[in-house]
Amino acid sequence: MTFTLNIWRQQNAGAPGRFVRYQVKDVTPDMSFLETLDALNEDLLNRGEPPVAFEHDCREGICGSCGFLINGVAHGGQRGTTVCQLAMRFFKDGDSLTLEPWRARAFPIVRDLMVNRSAFDRIIQAGGFISAHTGSAPDANAILVAKEAADTAFDAAACIGCGACVAACPNSAAMLFTSAKLTHLNSLPQGQPQRDQRTLSMVSAMASEYFGSCTNHGECGAVCPKEIPLEFIGRMNRDLMRALAHRHREPLVIPGVVQQPHHEDSHQHAESAS
Ligand code: SF4
Ligand code: FES
Repeated sequence: MTFTLNIWRQQNAGAPGRFVRYQVKDVTPDMSFLETLDALNEDLLNRGEPPVAFEHDCREGICGSCGFLINGVAHGGQRGTTVCQLAMRFFKDGDSLTLEPWRARAFPIVRDLMVNRSAFDRIIQAGGFISAHTGSAPDANAILVAKEAADTAFDAAACIGCGACVAACPNSAAMLFTSAKLTHLNSLPQGQPQRDQRTLSMVSAMASEYFGSCTNHGECGAVCPKEIPLEFIGRMNRDLMRALAHRHREPLVIPGVVQQPHHEDSHQHAESAS
């Protein structure tokens, strides 16, 4: 198989970029897309030209490093497939393919097809953890987890942080990613003590990055290689409402003023006294 690849080449975030056309020959149907780029890079190195920069690590759909647009579609358009899992047999011999990095202000270009996704890291740092002491493995397993909660958390934990959802969204929103990270921990019993604070912190971290707002296009779910459901965005919005409502129930604390019992506490006091 022979392919014509129009690849975005850009030295760094500040440099101008442009498409450069390359021809790759002797591609076999079972080669992955990244192996095709490897073959191109070997050729470029042999000719003394700079290779095309692209991210990868596991090459089996686990790490979330890889990802770019192929003919405008994140990860190339095969359902539930990362670009590293994409085999060349999904394309026709002689196809002309256009490769671009994720296009989103929150993901500045590092070089060629590589972007900086540390905005995702900052969202996770804001609340993607639990503070409960889980102890050794048997102690952790001693906490019973309902089957439905375990399944939901497991589905949410499948998010690999690739960024395709942001790249596909016309608003560059990070709602699907953030909702997956929140749903993972907010569904589990171990995640309950910090559920409200986690939701407020991660949503606020998301809002402080250059991500847009969700307007229900659903493009994120269509390209997500882990098929994270849009329903998780609904869960995140419900958790946000819950956290905001709980925050308004906090007693008002005025420094230097002796605190009166909270109205619910005084109700309980009254009941126990009678
Ligand atoms: S939600 Fe899907 S598309 Fe978005 S980062 Fe996670 S795995 Fe990638
Ligand atoms: S290289 Fe790890 S998911 Fe593609």
